[in-house]
Amino acid sequence: MSTATQFAELQSGSERYAARVNPQWVRLLELLEMNVRYERCTGAELLTSEGKRVVDFLSGYCVHNVGHNHPSVIAALKEELDRSGPAMLQSHVPEAAGELGARLCKLAGGKLSKVFFASSGSEGVETAIKFARAHTGRTGLLYTDGAFHGLTCGALSLMGNPFWREGFGPMLPGADQIPFEDARSLEVKLSTRQFAAFIVEPVQAEGGIRIPQAEYLQTAEQLCRKYGTLFVLDEVQTGMFRTGAFLAAHHYDLEPDIVVLAKALSGGLIPVSAVLMSDEVYKSVYNSLKRAIVHTSTYSENALAMRAGLATLEVLRRESLGRRAILMGNELRRRLRETLSGYEMVKDIRGIGLLSGIEFQAPSKISLRVAFEAFQRIHPGLFGQMVVMRMFRDEKMLTQICGNNFMVLKAAPPLIVEESQIDQFVGAMGRVVELIHSSSTFWADALDLARRALNI
Ligand SMILES: Cc1ncc(COP(=O)(O)O)c(C=O)c1O
Repeated sequence: MSTATQFAELQSGSERYAARVNPQWVRLLELLEMNVRYERCTGAELLTSEGKRVVDFLSGYCVHNVGHNHPSVIAALKEELDRSGPAMLQSHVPEAAGELGARLCKLAGGKLSKVFFASSGSEGVETAIKFARAHTGRTGLLYTDGAFHGLTCGALSLMGNPFWREGFGPMLPGADQIPFEDARSLEVKLSTRQFAAFIVEPVQAEGGIRIPQAEYLQTAEQLCRKYGTLFVLDEVQTGMFRTGAFLAAHHYDLEPDIVVLAKALSGGLIPVSAVLMSDEVYKSVYNSLKRAIVHTSTYSENALAMRAGLATLEVLRRESLGRRAILMGNELRRRLRETLSGYEMVKDIRGIGLLSGIEFQAPSKISLRVAFEAFQRIHPGLFGQMVVMRMFRDEKMLTQICGNNFMVLKAAPPLIVEESQIDQFVGAMGRVVELIHSSSTFWADALDLARRALNI
């Protein structure tokens, strides 16, 4: 055995990952004391190699709607593997894709009658961009501040936070940002008739669980019609019953031209995304034999992803997870409000279905304010990450702050979350928020974290 091989064998899994994949990610997890090994993940519970039980209130950013490793999705995958069928020949008709497409269109309703399958949310957004351009013959793309649409170059051009773009430019020409929930700015831009699509999340997840007035989205749809722009909803996080309805669009009676789904579509086990669209939009791309595969992707309709999608839809239906998301979400927020009201740093608790956010604000009490402002100067995400770290380390609760709004802690458990786990979360939040307001330990720990972050 060579020295290099021997060395590789001595390394832990984490070290090997750091050496070959992403050392900064390992550093970050270690800094936050979140680098633990998970042995077994079921439902909303994650069992660590040390035998600790962590409750998942993040769901891999809304991936695990049916819970981790749902037995029905696993059974469907095993069955597909065992039959040794055509996983992806690229030379046949993948029938399962037709079946999944039909079910998705039926659930989505409106004029969404065709589907393009891909493997990630970003790839879905890229598809929406291409199809919108092909359909309208225009190049412009409108998006909103705070938006999160993905990190491939097209999707990156639509991100409502410049942080993600730094060093990766130039972006797509014609991409233009307007304020979220501002119909006036939207109309000013649309009236130039240069925009192929207005791409918006019906509820901004990474933007801080921003839930717009129904009127805004309905007006946006009408304005898009008026000026010949496609109304595109990014439901990568909000779709698949996360907000209680199959699409968040259903809460608002919207009729989008294109909807992008991903994340929870395959039960969190196989990468997949689906772009639902109207017949007219679809035909603008696949309009002749010559263009039969003008937009495609190698793994796009692979049998495992399609089977996982079908099994996931069946679980969502059979277990009435949309209804459950509404009931449990309302209960979660009611209990959070009851427990956290009266703490000056808790600004708002909001959400829809099982997509909730706890928004923090700067304290006015001078003793807290000095510490808070010091952290803001070090890094605007430091305070939120301390809350995440405390929730994880002390309370065994996995959460995260929103990617484009660091003052909002996201609570998005699997839709199968149990009442006892909601109790645990609320109790944990109560203790952590009490600690923030009453003890110098929280702030001393945060300072220590900042020091370590700067030193390593
Ligand atoms: C709303 C939204 N759109 C698109 C994406 C990109 O999806 P993916 O990471 O699968 O490319 C994300 C990812 O978090 C998202 O939240």
